[in-house]
Amino acid sequence: MNTPTIHVPVMPEESIAALEPGPGKTIIDGTFGGGGHSSLLAASVLPGGRVIGLDRDEGAVERSQQIIERLAVHAPQAAAAITVYCASYHQIDRALAAEGLDGVDGILLDLGLSSDQLADRSRGFSFSVEGPLDLRFDTSSGEPASRLLKRWNEKQIADVIYRYGEERFSRRIARRIVQARQEGQAIETTTDLAELVRRCVPRSKNHDIDPATRTFQALRIAANDELQILEQALSRAADWLNPDGRIAVISFHSLEDRIVKNQFRDCPRLEVLTRKPLRPSDTETQHNPRARSAKLRIARRRRDEEMPAVQPY
Ligand SMILES: C[S@@+](CC[C@H](N)C(=O)[O-])C[C@H]1O[C@@H](n2cnc3c(N)ncnc32)[C@H](O)[C@@H]1O
Repeated sequence: MNTPTIHVPVMPEESIAALEPGPGKTIIDGTFGGGGHSSLLAASVLPGGRVIGLDRDEGAVERSQQIIERLAVHAPQAAAAITVYCASYHQIDRALAAEGLDGVDGILLDLGLSSDQLADRSRGFSFSVEGPLDLRFDTSSGEPASRLLKRWNEKQIADVIYRYGEERFSRRIARRIVQARQEGQAIETTTDLAELVRRCVPRSKNHDIDPATRTFQALRIAANDELQILEQALSRAADWLNPDGRIAVISFHSLEDRIVKNQFRDCPRLEVLTRKPLRPSDTETQHNPRARSAKLRIARRRRDEEMPAVQPY
């Protein structure tokens, strides 16, 4: 059997410990991906516990069946504890309803994209392989990035690339995109866009980051509405958690981390357990460079008796 996933989970020990899984607990893995975190969680909720995985990408959900079968060979009980749904993590209500649950003991969100998606040239996530410029996790909704670049005006393109990509040359890139459009040049593939961006952005001194990196990241965040979805989900987290339940979020982008930090802090029903985010160890980043920018924040749903009493008028 070919390996169904090449994704290596980020901060595995820290994120599992954050959720305090134990026998009989039910945990939602809101970003199933290659199932690395789910497999570890499943082993730690036995006997009697459950892991409910969600992924917005139908391809990831299809792959999850192979991942679970693979796990069943050496850990059949853990494999049997995992169920995966195709849904966005801001729709956790749907999974709870389907499972007949009122709440769960833990929620894990490991944001961004998986190495499997990056390696799949048909998805257009990587500027280093030629593919259609799509960049959506869920290809059945929203618009591919190539269409957004046709629809947006120059200012909208520049704003997205500046805001979500923190790209200094956003205006120059936007101007080139609009010019290319006017001249009838196609920006339909990852290579079309990557080459255009490389002509606008000087290479970094040590050549360690491709100039197209920030633009692709920005378009991916926009094409998937990633920040709005994160905000919506975090505003509901306390409703989905049982008292004492925990939520752990691994983010890779400063805007994501700011949303997590602020929403945890501003929700009176949550107790923040990480004043500063946890970071991966040097050993982990040496083995898994993808972990470099990861930040893990954790919060706990307060028990009702811990909530400040509402004062009558
Ligand atoms: C970094 S990967 C998760 C990897 C996973 N933790 C593992 O150990 O293999 C992120 C996954 O989240 C999925 N995803 C992104 N946005 C999502 C959303 N709003 N709802 C559900 N899944 C989402 C992506 O499709 C991708 O498969």
